[in-house]
Parts: sequence; C-alpha cells; structure tokens
Amino acid sequence: MAPTAYPRIAGLSADYLAKQLRDFRAGTRNNPLMRPMASRLSDAEIAAISTYYAALPIPAPVAEPPARDVTKTAAELARWGDWSGRGLPGCGQCHGPDGNGIGSGFPGISGQQASYIEAQLQAWKTGVRANDPMGLMKAVADRLTDVEIHALAAYYNARPGAPPTPAGKTLSPSVKDEPVPARQLDSGDVPHHGPPPAGRTVSAARYFEPPSRDAMPGGPLGNAILQGQAIFDSTNTHPLSSKYVGNRQTCGNCHLDAGRRPGSAPLWAAWVAYPAYRTKDDEINTYIERIQGCFRYSMNAQASVHGGPPAAHSETMTSLVAYSYWLAKGALTGDLRMPGRGYVRLKETSRGFDPGRGAAVYAAKCALCHGEDGAGVAHADGRTLFPPLWGAGSYNWGAGMHRVDTAAAFIKHNMPLGVSGVLSDQEAWDVAAFVNSHERPQDPRHRGDLALTTSEFHASKFDYYGKRKGPDGRMLGER
Ligand code: HEC
Ligand code: HEC
Ligand code: HEC
Repeated sequence: MAPTAYPRIAGLSADYLAKQLRDFRAGTRNNPLMRPMASRLSDAEIAAISTYYAALPIPAPVAEPPARDVTKTAAELARWGDWSGRGLPGCGQCHGPDGNGIGSGFPGISGQQASYIEAQLQAWKTGVRANDPMGLMKAVADRLTDVEIHALAAYYNARPGAPPTPAGKTLSPSVKDEPVPARQLDSGDVPHHGPPPAGRTVSAARYFEPPSRDAMPGGPLGNAILQGQAIFDSTNTHPLSSKYVGNRQTCGNCHLDAGRRPGSAPLWAAWVAYPAYRTKDDEINTYIERIQGCFRYSMNAQASVHGGPPAAHSETMTSLVAYSYWLAKGALTGDLRMPGRGYVRLKETSRGFDPGRGAAVYAAKCALCHGEDGAGVAHADGRTLFPPLWGAGSYNWGAGMHRVDTAAAFIKHNMPLGVSGVLSDQEAWDVAAFVNSHERPQDPRHRGDLALTTSEFHASKFDYYGKRKGPDGRMLGER
C-alpha cells in the first residue's frame, strides 16, 4: 500500500466507520496499521469515535496528479459500468450517482484521497481486503484493469465530497460470502433459440451487440435517441416522463444496462418482435402498446399526474421508440426468438417456492440495497437509487414482475447487482415468493370485486393476489 494511502474519514457515515473499525479489530479487514489500534477499542469507544468523525465537515481533497488520458473511460465506468463487456455495474449504482455513498453500507468515495481509492481497489483484487458484503467490491475490482483503477481514483478524487444519502432503515449486519466469478449467460440458458441467422452481429457470448453509446448519430434522430435513453434511465424523475409514473420506478430498474442486457428483457430483442399477439389482452399488440403496458402496470400509471400511460405520439413515447429502434440497428425484423430476449425462464424445483424460506434469503442478500422494509432508497432529489420491491413505490398487481415465476427468472440472472449467480435456483424461487407475498399498488383492472379480479386475472399458481394474506393479516389485493 502506498504510504500516502490514508483516507479522509470526516463526514463518512458513522455506521460505516464503526463497521470498518470492528472489522479491523476482528481481522476481517486486514491492515497492519489499523488492526493494533482498533483492537484496543471497546464497542463504546468505536461508537463514540465514529460519531465524532461522521459529524466533522468534509475538507477539500488534497490535489493529486490527474489521471493519464483515460478520464473519459473513468466517467463512463462510473456512470454506466461495462455490462456487455464484463458484467460490470457502474460505480454510481452502489455509491450513488454523485459518488457520495448510500446509507451505511455504501461509503462515499467522492473527494476521497486518490491513492487510498487506488490502494483499496488493488487490495480487493489481490485479496488483501475481503470484508465487503457478498463479495460485491471484489467482483468489481477483479473486472478492472490497473489503468482503469488509476483513472477512477483520480476521477472520484476530483469530485466534491458530501454526506451520504440516508437509507431508510438500519441495515442488518453484513453477511460474508465467497465472492463469485463474473457470470455470463451461456447458451445452456436459452434452450429454444437456434443459431443466429447469417448477417447478424453477435458478441462473443452469442448475443446481439447493440451499437455502443459513443456511436449515437447526431441531428434530430440523435437527440431523440439520447432523450429516449435519459427517459428510460430516469423515468420517474425525467421532466417529460415523470407525469406518467405513479411509483418510484425507472424502466432501467427491470431492464438492466438501460435496456441492453441480454436476459433482462433487452429492447433490441423486443423491437424486432412486434407487432405480436399477447395472451394478456388477447390482441395483437404494437410495440407502442407493449410499452404502454409497462407504464400501466410496472410504472403504475393510474396513480400518476397524467392518470395513465403516454399517448402514442407523445414526446415520451416517440423518444422511447427512437431509442429502441437505434438499439436494434442491424437486427432482423420479425425474429421472435433472439437469444437473450425476455428473462431466462427458471425451471421449477422439487421443493416448490416458499415465502418463509425466502425471508432468510432476502435478509442475507437483498436487504442491504432494497431495505428491510422493501422500500428501496431514493436520492434527496427523488431519483431512485435502489428500487422498492413492494409497497406504494413498487410495481402494481398487474405487472409481470408480480408473478413469482417471472420475478424468480429476473432475480436469478440479474440479482444481487453485479454478482448474479450467487443464488441457487431454489433461493431465487423462494426470495421471489417472499417479495411477491407483500402488498403493492392495486391491479388497474380491479373493479371492486376481489374474488372476480382474482379469478379473471390471477388464477395462476405463481400469483398470490387474492389468495394469501400479507404480513399485516389482510388478504393481498384487498384495499
Ligand atoms: C454492487 C455494488 C458496488 C459497486 C457497483 C461498486 N461498489 Fe465500491 N463498495 C461497495 C461496498 C458494499 C463497499 C463497502 C465494503 C465494506 O463494507 O467494507 C464499497 C467500498 C468501496 C471503496 C472503499 C471505500 C472506503 O472508504 O473504504 C472504494 C474505494 C470503492 N468501493 C470504489 C468503487 C469504484 C471505483 C467502483 C466502480 C468501479 C465501485 N466501488 C463500484 C459496493 C459497490
Ligand atoms: C448491491 C445492491 C443490490 C442487491 C444486493 C440486490 N439488488 Fe436488486 N436491484 C438493485 C438495483 C440497483 C436495481 C435496479 C437496477 C438498475 O436500475 O439498473 C435492482 C433491481 C431489482 C429488481 C427489479 C424490480 C423493480 O421493481 O425495480 C428486483 C425484483 C430485485 N432487484 C430483487 C432483488 C433481490 C430479490 C435481491 C436479493 C437476492 C436483490 N435484488 C439484491 C440493487 C441490488
Ligand atoms: C417492475 C419491472 C419493470 C419495469 C419498471 C418496466 N418493465 Fe418492461 N417488462 C417487464 C417484464 C417483467 C416484462 C416481460 C419480460 C418477460 O417476461 O420475458 C417486460 C417487457 C417489456 C417489453 C417487451 C419485451 C419483449 O421482449 O417482448 C418492453 C418493450 C418493455 N418491457 C419496455 C419497458 C419500458 C419502456 C419501461 C418503462 C416505461 C418498462 N418496460 C418498465 C418489467 C418491467
């Protein structure tokens, strides 16, 4: 570790500092300087010291030499990560868009000493630091090159530090797990797709590769595409689309990497597959109607300012259409089964699924981000940082995600963020059942008769609406 690698601790979250001191004391965070100091501290002293430093004002960062010529890459990695290349989330997804941290689990790194940031990332890579919950940081650091680490350290050092976004509830103590290697969806996950037709660009992982962000065209089309990406990424707060959103969701919350990620219902695979027949409404749906469906149910548009989904020719819709069209550039129109389309279905297990078993999985592997109460975390300006999974801010009872099989499929291949693959199939089923056994906004098709709505729309065994009581003892859907 470089001799200058001492972190700024003033203004960091008190709970985060206390955890680090306890980890040094226990030896689960390995540092020859900190261990002897921390081992002499009692719990009360740790609490007092942490509270003291958390309350100190944040000093201006010590200037350090700027990064080499890769600063744009650092900004890109901080903002978007590199999902298609290596399954890497953006740093901002866990440390907050401003890099100032979220709650006590995700420390602020903006305004931090660059040498400290660099030393920590290297420590994770080499295994010297290993106290991160679920191996979340190990998985990140392993996927970065030394040049990128150096550039990211300078990038965050140069950004202003501020106090973290508070998380709703105190988080449960961190759970240690073996870090897992990056998981790519393999061909075994998509049994029904044949070989890709000739002429299509397919990545090394056999998935269609949408155009890269820096290849966006200019002019009015480019503006519409860029606006579509922004709406997709911040639907509930974007000035154009927020009036159609009645909860705290963005489209990107369920379609990862802003609609690019295979196995996360990517837009490029959807674009070429419409118009299509849907059993949900027994009609041929256009692409626009499909998006309106996601507004109606996943975004709970009935509770929005507008009171329903955007019209076909609204600026919100035309931007989303332009963005989808561009992502699918080069794909064959009419191909209903592009590899990576939709969510990768999960086979049922012999033990079935059980919300009771799922509660333990949730506490150990999900509550850190989505909160013990499932309410997620929002930035002070309203942006969704970790989406809510149940309650008023979540998808409603008509959304695809309310089905246990759909949620299990999504969760297995996309969660926990950045380390998908840690859950067994059984855990994915159980935790999906747990999430979907909680109350959420009403199904917009409900006309007041719970038994009727249940029999008409919720007969499936993967659906708890009208059939199970929520934690408060009331029948789900009865409100
Ligand atoms: C999937 C979530 C996640 C992502 C993505 C992520 N981090 Fe982290 N990071 C964490 C967690 C959790 C910790 C705290 C670990 C602990 O409890 O010791 C952390 C800690 C850190 C620390 C140590 C801070 C300190 O004060 O000790 C640095 C530096 C850091 N991350 C940098 C980054 C950078 C740079 C990126 C992007 C390349 C990134 N992280 C992406 C979850 C994440
Ligand atoms: C490190 C933080 C983190 C952990 C741990 C995590 N998630 Fe997530 N989850 C996210 C983020 C961030 C998103 C939104 C992704 C985006 O916008 O790119 C998300 C999205 C979701 C969604 C989409 C639904 C919606 O309404 O937006 C579900 C469902 C979900 N997570 C379930 C889980 C479950 C179940 C677990 C535990 C097995 C889990 N997550 C663990 C961060 C996390
Ligand atoms: C709460 C999660 C969630 C949110 C938020 C969400 N969707 Fe979806 N979306 C789904 C699910 C689930 C499916 C069906 C995927 C499956 O079952 O394979 C889907 C399907 C789609 C499809 C069709 C995919 C295909 O291959 O047929 C499109 C297009 C789409 N969504 C667009 C959007 C847009 C645009 C937004 C934002 C306005 C959005 N979605 C918000 C969950 C969500």
